[in-house]
Amino acid sequence: MSLSRTSDVLVIGGGIIGLVTAWRAAQRGLSTAVVDPEPGGGAAQVAAGMLAAVTELHHGEQTLLGLNLASARRYPDFAAELTELTGHDLGYRRCGTLAVALDADDRTHLRELHALQRASGLESEWLSGRDCRRLEPMLAPGVRGGLRVDGDHQIDPRRLAGALMAACEQAGVVFHRTWAERLVVRRDRAAGCELRDGSRLGARQVVLAAGSRSGQLAGVPDDVLPPVRPVKGQVVRLTVPKRYAPFLNRTVRAVVRGSQVYLVPRLSGELVIGATTEELGWDTTVTAGGVYELLRDAHELVPGITELPLTETRAGLRPGSPDNAPLLGPTELPGLLLATGHYRNGVLLTPVTGDALAHALTTGELPEVARPFTPRRFRTAVLTELPA
Ligand code: GLY
Repeated sequence: MSLSRTSDVLVIGGGIIGLVTAWRAAQRGLSTAVVDPEPGGGAAQVAAGMLAAVTELHHGEQTLLGLNLASARRYPDFAAELTELTGHDLGYRRCGTLAVALDADDRTHLRELHALQRASGLESEWLSGRDCRRLEPMLAPGVRGGLRVDGDHQIDPRRLAGALMAACEQAGVVFHRTWAERLVVRRDRAAGCELRDGSRLGARQVVLAAGSRSGQLAGVPDDVLPPVRPVKGQVVRLTVPKRYAPFLNRTVRAVVRGSQVYLVPRLSGELVIGATTEELGWDTTVTAGGVYELLRDAHELVPGITELPLTETRAGLRPGSPDNAPLLGPTELPGLLLATGHYRNGVLLTPVTGDALAHALTTGELPEVARPFTPRRFRTAVLTELPA
């Protein structure tokens, strides 16, 4: 079958990562198409939108930290450019984050995080429980201390997705609102994709940016298929009535009984409480247990939440990768690039991913900042583990 409607770039997946890739590619003069039944949907419709390079730092993830910080630094210009182009308010709020401890174990955990942050040259300040409550009067009296991180901000991912859609449309990106069923490979090169109705779209380069589904696309050779898996996150949305505002001034988070809980207050009055981390395959059921645990843990931090209307419960799937870092850029199959596996950092990594993929699509190489995230790192790992 012939490949109709050939574009320079075909992006499979229209979540925020696919959209930013398409937008940046189109801005560089490449004719670009996106295939997705519901572009602008996906994990961004669930995510809280924390831009938490410093508070979500983990031992052993210093390489990822470099990419996270590079993206966080891009955010002010990225948000300003998108807003100027589209007129959309992104809910970008430079409010900072307070990570607090409720008991001695949490305090030890937070002290260790503080030491790691300082060793990594990051800015964060240790506060007593009283100082935490001075900043955030709604905090529980039992808070034992906390870390103030003024550089970890937030954005509203739903607004971000809407603005990226508008920016793509302005830049001439063509949307195919259907499923991509199969990658088309011609003469050992990615050449497009087959759609659900059997028709085919051709492209000089294909970017697979289908989030947690990226490892499922038929036609991708086994050794190139990205090792991503779905990691479920349940989230609750409350609304702060005007008479209670400002309920919280910044993102407040903690580890309670080993689980992360965060409260992200938007200027609109929305208060997002997240998130569970569950390895349950493709299940996106909102469970009583998930909602109970989120509200219970959030209530320990901020007891006043029980007064607020509960407006939404939702579950989404993070695209997890074996090292919790994204897979970016060219693969071993010529013409096929990846932009997936962003796990907990998809919203934060949106600006740098767009820039890195546009660079790779126009030059064939990743920029310096993104090189450690080549999909080829997993291939190397497999080869070196083979017996001699
Ligand atoms: N980055 C927050 C989450 O994935 O829950």
